[in-house]
Amino acid sequence: MFHTPIAPRVRKRSRPAEAGAPRREGVKFEDVRLYLVERKMGCSRRSFLTQLARSKGFIVEDILSDVVTHIVSEDTQASSLWTWLKGCELKNLPSVHVLDISWFTDSMREGRPVAVETRHLIQVCDILPTFPGGPTATVSQYACQRRTTTENNNKIFTEAFEVLAESYEFNEIEGPCLAFRRAGSVLKSLTFEVRSLGDTQDLPCLGEHTKELIEEILRHGRSFEVEKILSDERYQTLKLFTSVFGVGPKTAEKWYRRGLRSFSDVLTEPSIQLNRMQQTGFLHYEDISRAVSKAEARALGNIIDEAVHAITLDAVIALTGGFRRGKEFGHDVDFIVTTPEPGRERSLLPDVTDRLEQQGILLYCDYQASTFDMSKLPCHRFEAMDHFAKCFLILRLEASKVEGGLNSTEEDSRGWRAVRVDLVSPPMDRYAFALLGWTGSRQFERDLRRFARLERRMLLDNHILYDKTKKEFLAATTEKDIFAHLGLEYIEPWQRNA
Ligand code: UTP
Ligand code: MN
Repeated sequence: MFHTPIAPRVRKRSRPAEAGAPRREGVKFEDVRLYLVERKMGCSRRSFLTQLARSKGFIVEDILSDVVTHIVSEDTQASSLWTWLKGCELKNLPSVHVLDISWFTDSMREGRPVAVETRHLIQVCDILPTFPGGPTATVSQYACQRRTTTENNNKIFTEAFEVLAESYEFNEIEGPCLAFRRAGSVLKSLTFEVRSLGDTQDLPCLGEHTKELIEEILRHGRSFEVEKILSDERYQTLKLFTSVFGVGPKTAEKWYRRGLRSFSDVLTEPSIQLNRMQQTGFLHYEDISRAVSKAEARALGNIIDEAVHAITLDAVIALTGGFRRGKEFGHDVDFIVTTPEPGRERSLLPDVTDRLEQQGILLYCDYQASTFDMSKLPCHRFEAMDHFAKCFLILRLEASKVEGGLNSTEEDSRGWRAVRVDLVSPPMDRYAFALLGWTGSRQFERDLRRFARLERRMLLDNHILYDKTKKEFLAATTEKDIFAHLGLEYIEPWQRNA
């Protein structure tokens, strides 16, 4: 709701070749490190294929470790292969290509690593319980059955989809808006870059319109439809106005209809009364629209941690939102703060913000008291907001508190910046649900709820999981409990960037 768009920043993953590994004789493809799985292939065939690949300039690792980028197997039993791979405890397994031998033979024939296509992949199949008897190498339609890291191999498509989704959102056309977000989310989960329409053949959630767009981008490197939207005056203006903290699509639309097109139009229009939130939004516009870095998020974590513990020693604090998912930058920093003492969480946040005010770092505070009432649950209609006590803050963050300094422009010599921080305070027995709900991403949450409803006849929100068949609430103290109740394989926070 208070989302401020941020200029996307591309994080370059340090490739193994850059990580100081020794150079090898005759190597042509530094970025690709193969590992051939001996199971089913057999020892002698493996050593023959290893020599063949090395003679063509490929690096073949003898040991399976985190430097490996491409795992090749002749084991066509995806489930047994994946069970084995998961036991190997690779940290970057979700970003490794797990390929059948066809990719290897294609590459040997071409004398170079060929682009990974869907048909080459041996896909995780044990997290697809909804397709009994169906094809195993399928990408699930639900984001909560996919693993999506922050590494997006298909930005060129997903950014285009997002422009269309936003444009539909501004026109309040919900169906196509969600369809583009869903399609974008599927492409974000792929461990390969889509290079041809054929690569998208087996993917769910891609409709006619999305495929046309993909084809256009593949052919021309850009989309005419997207460019038309980007240069549209209404889109540009609504985008600009909604980038202000406290200005939603409704207000932006109202201002646009009055003929306002720029911030100075808004600020000099006598008939417009900005509310307190919007006034603050304009006042700190430059700061709030600049991305928050991981180091800044850490510094804010220390400040909140200190404040909460000064109030009650048994306080619990958890980083949530995008930074918990491993994002390098965010539009705000989200924390859950609570205490095991029942009922105490209802008055915790006012105490915390009082303290921040005494420290002179509270620039803005919108506090919403708890309206949480377990006896009114489950709620069968969808609610965007939860009922926990929460506050939307703007804090003054001093450069001296941030390791490596602030994420600011060079000419900024103030030595501080304003940052958006959200605090939410659920009762302790609701902690796991709140943590799962606030960790996001929004698309991941949407699909978790949709999966619960459609596949399990359950209701999930930030407060509860309710089994409609058994007519009972399911208890959980950890996120893993909730995934287990839903019969879903656990997805780590850093794999929820759907
Ligand atoms: P954010 O809007 O902060 O997004 O909501 P983010 O993923 O951290 O990304 P940034 O901040 O743009 O970098 C975080 C999660 O909290 C939930 C949202 O649904 C999202 O999944 N949320 C947010 C709520 O459940 N309730 C709220 O009132 C606000
Ligand atoms: Mn956030």
